[in-house]
Amino acid sequence: MMDDELTPLRDLAEKLLIGQYHRHVFLCTGESCSAAGVGEAAWEVLKRELKDRNLSLATGLDACYRTKVGCLRVCVGGPVLLVYPEGTYYGGMTAERIPEFVKKHLVEGQPIEGRIFARNPLPLA
Ligand code: FES
Repeated sequence: MMDDELTPLRDLAEKLLIGQYHRHVFLCTGESCSAAGVGEAAWEVLKRELKDRNLSLATGLDACYRTKVGCLRVCVGGPVLLVYPEGTYYGGMTAERIPEFVKKHLVEGQPIEGRIFARNPLPLA
């Protein structure tokens, strides 16, 4: 890729504050781990909660990037949600559970143990 081809990407990354985040949340909205519409409903609440708490498009220790994904290869007990850098996998993350997750895990740094089914922290490169 030519350097000037990367210019629009670099501009977008800057606008999205990529490089400033301390966490990245992936939420599965696929229909193998939860019924149609359940993941999407959770996604809408996640977006709203991150925005309302100024975690999205933010800087600072709580800054959190969010990504909606089609499958995290677990495919049961969803919606499945994954948080990095901790590598925390949550199950059953329906819309009504998202606000507590955002408050406890993302703001207070206290994972909700009862909803965690796996952990895979990634080693630093
Ligand atoms: S469809 Fe959600 S993990 Fe596969």
